[in-house]
Amino acid sequence: MSKFFVNGKEYELADEKKVMGFLRDELKLLSVKDGCAEGACGACTVLADGIPTKVCVQTAKRMEGKHIITVEGLSDREKEVYKYAFGKAQAVQCGFCIPGMVMCAKSLIDKNNNPTRIECADAIKNNYCRCTGYKKIIDAIMLAAKIIRENTPISFENKVMELGDSDIRVDAIDKTMGTAKYADDIYLDNMIYGSCVRAAYPRARVKSINLEEAKKLDGVVGILTAKDLPGKMTGHLKKDWFALIDVGDITHSLGDAIVAVYAKDKETVEKAKALVKIEYEELPAVFDRYEAMKEGAPIVHEEEDTKTNILVEKHIKRGDPDTAIKNAKFKVTKTYKTPYTEHAFLEPECAVALPLQDGGVMLYSSDQSTYDTRRECSYITGLPEEKIIVENSYVGGAFGGKEDMTIQPLACVAALKFKVPVKMKLTRQESMQVHPKRHPMDVTMTTACDENGILVGMKCEVVSDTGCYASLGGPVLERACTHAAGPYNYQNVEIHGTAVYTNNPPAGAFRGFGVTQTCFATEMNIDLLADMVGIDYWEIRKRNAIKPGQVLPNGQIADESTGLEETLDAVKDYYYNNKYVGIACAMKNAGVGVGLPDYGRCKLIVNNGLVEVHSAASENGQGIGQVLVQTVSNELKLPIDKIVWKNSNSNNDPDSGCSSGSRHTLITGEACLRATRELCKDFIANGKDLNKLNGKEYVADFFEPTDKLGADKEFPVSHVGYGFATQLCILNEDGTIKEMVGAHEVGKAVNKLGVEGQIEGGMVMSMGYALTENLKVVEGKVTAKYGTYGLFRANKVPELTSIVVEKAGMKFANGAIGCGEITAIPTAPAIALAYYRKDKEFRTELPLVNTPYSKK
Ligand code: FES
Ligand code: FES
Repeated sequence: MSKFFVNGKEYELADEKKVMGFLRDELKLLSVKDGCAEGACGACTVLADGIPTKVCVQTAKRMEGKHIITVEGLSDREKEVYKYAFGKAQAVQCGFCIPGMVMCAKSLIDKNNNPTRIECADAIKNNYCRCTGYKKIIDAIMLAAKIIRENTPISFENKVMELGDSDIRVDAIDKTMGTAKYADDIYLDNMIYGSCVRAAYPRARVKSINLEEAKKLDGVVGILTAKDLPGKMTGHLKKDWFALIDVGDITHSLGDAIVAVYAKDKETVEKAKALVKIEYEELPAVFDRYEAMKEGAPIVHEEEDTKTNILVEKHIKRGDPDTAIKNAKFKVTKTYKTPYTEHAFLEPECAVALPLQDGGVMLYSSDQSTYDTRRECSYITGLPEEKIIVENSYVGGAFGGKEDMTIQPLACVAALKFKVPVKMKLTRQESMQVHPKRHPMDVTMTTACDENGILVGMKCEVVSDTGCYASLGGPVLERACTHAAGPYNYQNVEIHGTAVYTNNPPAGAFRGFGVTQTCFATEMNIDLLADMVGIDYWEIRKRNAIKPGQVLPNGQIADESTGLEETLDAVKDYYYNNKYVGIACAMKNAGVGVGLPDYGRCKLIVNNGLVEVHSAASENGQGIGQVLVQTVSNELKLPIDKIVWKNSNSNNDPDSGCSSGSRHTLITGEACLRATRELCKDFIANGKDLNKLNGKEYVADFFEPTDKLGADKEFPVSHVGYGFATQLCILNEDGTIKEMVGAHEVGKAVNKLGVEGQIEGGMVMSMGYALTENLKVVEGKVTAKYGTYGLFRANKVPELTSIVVEKAGMKFANGAIGCGEITAIPTAPAIALAYYRKDKEFRTELPLVNTPYSKK
């Protein structure tokens, strides 16, 4: 046994026991987050004798005699300081990394209460944050150090927050203190644990499953196979995703689950999994999308009685691109290749289900839409949707990777069958194998312009590897195609896209939703045209930038909020005052659009003199909770402490759609505004005394029709709104990045620092996409590890400059346009151009080769 101290109290633990499990499971010190359990992410960081220590890989023996401090063990004054500093700096998005960052900050400030930014970055360099780009975390550490150094008193204000104001987010304090409950932080009486045995081969027929030995193991509660499930398949759009593969069925990828094992503790689950015997008949698999399209290729979804691996094809044509290109003065054709990207959110997927007395089930889950989860769980449980209640726990990042189901349906079935609460959580490596990635795409594009660099036509062929399941493969391909012409004023375009099934991991939604891939091709071709014309890279974009009243390549008339030119103007000085500078532009829809029923919904309830904001709009870290609360505060001129926001719950809150497509700020924001205006009338009529309105509810929907792709209209409206952006990459002489500049037009910034946080986080995420991240997949197996995958660390991030451009014209949601996705879109081509200008090597593949960031 080893003895050590935790927050001042002495404990004893068997030498070989892992300390993280003890702190979390036994002591319930839940600021210690389990993000990987392999020493890679830093979410479990505590101080051991003052040194930041990742306790997931520490045994009790290694802690012998040491004094461990967690966030819970900070002094009251320290707690106030870190709450305030991290909140004020808006350092907190999903929050999963934050308690670990706080401990790193304390370790630094205890030794040096006047650190430089470089010292702050160094202090957190072993901890990843996937949301923020680290800048605002460093701001927070600098602020905390200043408060401690100057012994400044702290007061938390409760003020009216108007549009554009920035202050402590509604969820920041709980996330900073580790009291915000993520699904893995839920512990219930009699709770059992579950995990899946996954396929040994990417494509094989399951011949038999033998559970005898596993069932005999002490502590095993039960084992599920496909035969125990009322439903076989689920799926976000297409029901093609097997919850468990049955005997006789064929696996689609190594992530396929075959058996789900449940036991009283996690160790027994793992032992029982090892005792499950599965016999397979290995079958030929296909991992290359071009091979998959050939006649005679193995068919990934043989059960669908299909002869093709093509999930979907998209074709868009406007004008006469062949003639336009033929007659053009300059034209260029290139093929570009983009890789898989792993979301790498800090919180692996986790779900806790418990049976309800009425025969239904309650699910606490980490995902992007409680209503979608409810629907998809009903397919497998066989329950009507109303019998399933889904509540978002706090979500530790998603970025598109938590739209699809992983363990949620199996947790529900187990809770119903075994009649106890069930927790299921993916290991980090399982998470990387199982959830859909950003689609690898090959884009062959011809772009043409006249002698003045005015674009005249474009043709493009896109082929994506959508992996083993449909997921969002169709809409991602569609958005890749609809945005492939870029935010420019020309109308002769033809785009053909194909999404192909393979036995690779699935591909689906990822911040940028297909546009990240085609934008790389669009912008790089424009750079080559600028060279041919003899004008610079800023100028060619300025000449072609779409303006209000002009027609976008997709046929939509650009509305008054269209602000690409303003973003170009905002970066002009940076562009002309630096030597090795790359530039790229982008547009991205806000709202799902394309003729779909894209509803925003909100319900305000006045309760005990407070306004409760109810909307099933998942807060994944992007800040929708703050946007809604601030919308109410601004409209009613009500102090922020009078407004209550809670995580999405499918039973209490109206369905406001999925957290995707940068849609909530605009779509749910407008619904919230409408409900607030109704409340406002009564509020004023009652002398602004909320107590007189106790019990009253104000409900509003928002739906603005759009036209589906290929609508027979001269000027179809594909989306309610678009955001526009220009980003720059500025290199040092040694080829490292000196600065990234992002100018983003967002209509009206509701929470200005929040918008900056999105820009910074998006740019750093896509610096990884451009330079360091390349998810290795070998014969369908993700061989990359979280710690070596290539995420940027704080001490490698260059200066980040975010420019928030506001422009009136959007007629909904106080003029606000969501910006979550677009911040990650133009980064890669801007970086590629900067290197091209420096070394004259025109790179067509991501991640870029021959840079100081390239893996040797
Ligand atoms: S959970 Fe310990 S480093 Fe990730
Ligand atoms: S706020 Fe750092 S990972 Fe989300």
